[in-house]
Amino acid sequence: SFWKEVGGIRERETEAERLLQIRRVVVVPGDADENEWVKEDLARQAADELNKLLPGRGIVAVAGGTTVAQMAGVVRLFPQADQITVVPARGALGENVELEANTVAAELASHAGASYRLLYLPDMIEEDVRRNIERDPGIAEVLELIAKTDVLVHGIGVAAEMSRRRGLNENVTHILQEHQAVSEVFGYYFNRAGELVYRMSTVGMQMENVHMLPSVLAIAGGKSKAEAIVSYIRNRANYVLVTDEAAISEVLSLL
Ligand code: BG6
Repeated sequence: SFWKEVGGIRERETEAERLLQIRRVVVVPGDADENEWVKEDLARQAADELNKLLPGRGIVAVAGGTTVAQMAGVVRLFPQADQITVVPARGALGENVELEANTVAAELASHAGASYRLLYLPDMIEEDVRRNIERDPGIAEVLELIAKTDVLVHGIGVAAEMSRRRGLNENVTHILQEHQAVSEVFGYYFNRAGELVYRMSTVGMQMENVHMLPSVLAIAGGKSKAEAIVSYIRNRANYVLVTDEAAISEVLSLL
C-alpha cells in the first residue's frame, strides 16, 4: 500500500526475507509492545496471510499464545470452510486455558466455519506415558490429522517470559539459563545460534518435521521479540513471518 512505500516498509520486508532466508516477511506499522492497535493490525494481517496459504482442502494446525489467539478472533469465513479441519499443533504446554492451542483451534474454527478436532491431555507427559497415550484410538486419530498438516500457525516467544508464564520448575529454568535460551516455539526452546536447548515433552507436531510442512505462518510483533525471532526463524524456507516495524528494524540490526 501507499503507506508501506512511504515508510520504507517494503524495502525492509525484502531485506529481511533475504537476510533471514525465509519465504516471505510481512510488516505492519508500529510496535506491538507499545500499542494495542498494532497487535490488532498484526492479527488482521496474519489472518489475510493464512487465507493465502490455505489449501483447497486439508489441515490447519495452530499453537497457543496471545498472538495466535488474537488472530483466531479476527479470522473470517474460509472460502471452502467445510474442507478444512483445524487442530492444535501439540498437547497442552502449561498455558492458561484461554491461551491453550485447543482453545485457539476451536475459536479459529468457529470464526472460519471450519471443523475442528482437539487433544485432551495433561500438560507435559512423561515419555513412557506419552507412548501409551499415542496408542489411544481417539488421540491417534487427531495425531494422524496433525501429521498431515498443510499450514502450521504459531507465535514466537521470548524464552524467559515463556518459562515464567508456564510456571516451569526450577530444574527446567536452570537448564534454560545455563544454555542461554532466547526463543520459544510450541514448547521448544532455542539459543541465540538457533540450536535447540530444551523441549517440553508432549504429543503432536515435533520440531524435526516442521521443515517438511508445505507452509508455516509465524506471527510475532514488538521490539522485545526481535532477538527471539532471529534465533528461531533463520533459514526456514517454508516460513511466512508476520511482524511489526519495531521488531523488524531490530531484527535487521541484529543480522
Ligand atoms: C505459546 C506457543 O503458547 O505462545 C508458542 O506455543 C509461542 O508457539 C508463544 O512462542 C508466544 O506467545 P505470545 O503470547 O507471545 O504470542
